[in-house]
Amino acid sequence: MVKLTPPMGWNSWNTFGPNINEQVIFETADAMVEKGLLEKGYEYLVIDDCWSLKERDSNERLVPDPEKFPHGMKAVADYVHSKGLKFGMYSCAGNLTCAGYPGSFEHEFIDAETFAEWGVDFLKYDYCYHSPIIPGKYLYRRMGIALENCGRDILFSACSWGVDETHEWIKNTGASMWRSTGDIFDTWESIKDLMRQQEKLLPFNGVGCFNDMDMLVVGMHGKGNVGLQGCSDVQYKNHFSMWAFMGSPLMIGCDIRNMSKETLDILTNEEIIRINQDPVCRQPMKHVGVWGGDDLLFYSKLLAGGDIAIGLFNLGGGPVQARLNLDELGLPFSTGKTLELHELWTGEVSSVKNAILIKDIQPYDCAVLRAKVVDL
Ligand code: GLA
Repeated sequence: MVKLTPPMGWNSWNTFGPNINEQVIFETADAMVEKGLLEKGYEYLVIDDCWSLKERDSNERLVPDPEKFPHGMKAVADYVHSKGLKFGMYSCAGNLTCAGYPGSFEHEFIDAETFAEWGVDFLKYDYCYHSPIIPGKYLYRRMGIALENCGRDILFSACSWGVDETHEWIKNTGASMWRSTGDIFDTWESIKDLMRQQEKLLPFNGVGCFNDMDMLVVGMHGKGNVGLQGCSDVQYKNHFSMWAFMGSPLMIGCDIRNMSKETLDILTNEEIIRINQDPVCRQPMKHVGVWGGDDLLFYSKLLAGGDIAIGLFNLGGGPVQARLNLDELGLPFSTGKTLELHELWTGEVSSVKNAILIKDIQPYDCAVLRAKVVDL
């Protein structure tokens, strides 16, 4: 399957871990529609690890845990589809999944057929307990071939955490997105760490196979499976802006049935989503803003249609400001052009002479601007 913009949706792992069941999934599907998330582009509802029994059946088929999913997975898929959503599931390239359930190693084709029969539209494919002998590229290629031959269009979401030089081979396997980082946790340190890991891998992102920085922790506030001390809403706003700006898939991880208005407002900022879903998915250019320190990330990115997105992300605990000359953006005075700036969180509009000044970005906050090229 070819996906032209970063996939968007919700995944069960961050909040529910092993505590998933039919009711949670049905209620989440309802919430995705009722709270307007589907309308904003969040279309995939993905069940992560821990959905099956620990043994395959006598035909070597995977079996949904009847206590968690008493009506089977086809019924879950049907319900999810009835809401206008797409349905995702999880397996692993190893003998076992990361939580110790059966993996798809040496069962790739039968599992792909089973997923197709159930009506699965998305498969997250993990890397735990994989063969120490067979290289990862062959393990992912196997499932890539099985999915292409299963008779259903299933988005292949690889999850080998960027190890074994994943970036060198993942695009050849059939994957439409690939985990370029380790697992996220609901702490500011984890968000910062993933962002730093991602910076080196940005050149590998692009249409057809997107770098996946892991599911969002926006709105978790320390609750759930990967919830530790939690973050503030300002930190979640910055986290969401960075993931969107870098062109990562946007997979929500909080309990959307009970999220706050602040969380919903962050996740549904249309202009930030529009930058993420930009049809060309060009990679950002890094800038060193005068007055910026180590904890300041400053990027610009050329969008389809000629606007330029500018993101200033403050990773640290003190206020920052930055200045960027227009020639560093590719617009020297000789072009006769300048920029009109639209801040995408505050709505503020401003004009520029020969340098962009971004003042007073508070601790852990960010500024994201959409700049229009205008005559001087
Ligand atoms: C790995 C993945 C996570 C999640 C768990 C499930 O750690 O990276 O995203 O899928 O496995 O066990």
